[in-house]
Amino acid sequence: MLFYSLKSQGFAGPAMASLTVRQLDEKLKKQLRLRAARNGRSVEDEVRTILRGAASDTDAFPAPTESEPPGIAPAAKTDAKQVLLVIGGGIAAYKSLDLIRRLRERGVAVRVVMTDAAQKFITPLSVGALAGEHPFLDLFDAKSEFDVGHIRLARDTDLVVVAPATADLMAKLANGHADDLASAVLLATDQKILLAPAMNPQMWANKATRRNLAQLVADGVAIVGPNSGEMAESGEAGLGRMAEPLEIVAAAGALLVHASGALAGVRMLVTSGPTHEPIDPVRYIANRSSGKQGHAIAEAAARAGAAVTLISGPVNVPDPPGVTVVKVESARDMLAAVETALPADVAIFAAAVADWRTAASSREKIKKTGKGTPDLALVENPDILATVAHRKAKRPKLVIGFAAETEHVVEHARQKLARKACDWILANDVSPETGIMGGDSNTIHLVTRNGVEHWPPQSKSQVAAALIQRIAATLGGQK
Ligand SMILES: Cc1cc2nc3c(=O)[nH]c(=O)nc-3n(C[C@H](O)[C@H](O)[C@H](O)COP(=O)(O)O)c2cc1C
Repeated sequence: MLFYSLKSQGFAGPAMASLTVRQLDEKLKKQLRLRAARNGRSVEDEVRTILRGAASDTDAFPAPTESEPPGIAPAAKTDAKQVLLVIGGGIAAYKSLDLIRRLRERGVAVRVVMTDAAQKFITPLSVGALAGEHPFLDLFDAKSEFDVGHIRLARDTDLVVVAPATADLMAKLANGHADDLASAVLLATDQKILLAPAMNPQMWANKATRRNLAQLVADGVAIVGPNSGEMAESGEAGLGRMAEPLEIVAAAGALLVHASGALAGVRMLVTSGPTHEPIDPVRYIANRSSGKQGHAIAEAAARAGAAVTLISGPVNVPDPPGVTVVKVESARDMLAAVETALPADVAIFAAAVADWRTAASSREKIKKTGKGTPDLALVENPDILATVAHRKAKRPKLVIGFAAETEHVVEHARQKLARKACDWILANDVSPETGIMGGDSNTIHLVTRNGVEHWPPQSKSQVAAALIQRIAATLGGQK
């Protein structure tokens, strides 16, 4: 029966007109019949679908309908950025609902892929309602493969965000698996991938996860978080909580603007913070570095469009947005992470690496015996700056060190530049009265092979911005 009343479908109140398909011309009716048959719908359903599509064309993000197939609506005709969000099967999946909202509030179009495990934690219905279109669930769904296909899904986006990135998804991506829609899309994309890992601290600390993380960082995958804190499972705390939705939004935003900054396309490595050298399981040798300067540099570089890997010792400052952060403890861990993160175009060594560690750290807590003090023999730590600056292969174009001095600041910095074979040294006076170590401002003397520049006292973010400007000018001049 080619008669269809909108009223009967509960579309509107008494004022809504009925529509008679019979009044349409034969050619159109034939087209409708063919289209309905092709889509496996009744003609009435086909008309309903067309009307819904037409009515929602005025919205940037059409609302999903139960009867529509899970195909992608034509890309909205706006300059909006498109994010493909992959939701993995972790407790933190509930936060991804808020993440969708936060991204869409900012005008970002969000298309979602959910793993099977993710659907145990949150429903496709909630995700679809928030995203404005059905999530994609199955690699072998003939309908969605026909409409989009995992390859288009992977490519028709500006950024892929995985939140929560489970240990399982990280392992799959690090090893090139593609046995479900999420992993196939991650392997097929030619766009930047941002992972927001979330897992139990033991899973995060597991050697296999560390290996996978190192591989992913080396492959250019960006990471946000995880943070420290209480786990959703009661009684557990530690590193492994997923970054908060707004932190993920900030990281995604930074990656989305990467293409246009002064350091677009530049790979940058930054070290930051102190190192902790264990004496026994509860004691360590450290220094007063806060990580504020190194983190500010990493943030400024990311804002300028660089792909930044920040290798950080233990600090209390937050991870900068849009930066891949690798967290380490000791000098030897830091050197290993630096080697893994190479090659890079620019390397900035702002970390205050402990010069010495104990010759042997005790497995058990050293007890007070009353028979004198323990013998803490010290050995030298590797010199990370000199090791990288002296490299023949994979030496960054620009190797920049910091010199924290308490006397003869510039003279010591000049000697350090020559001894370590680096390109620039940012020297600062860290005598206690300057308040620089741990403080918010810094006074820099930039020592290069061509001379010394004395920068005025300024905030650490201003120092970071000036340094990044200087780097951009230098790299620009080398092109
Ligand atoms: C209650 C519960 C909570 C879980 N939370 C996490 C988690 O936070 N992170 C994680 O990596 N795995 C977690 N898992 C294990 C994953 O669900 C499991 O490894 C799954 O295969 C991941 O699949 P996916 O990566 O394809 O989503 C959890 C499992 C259960 C039963």
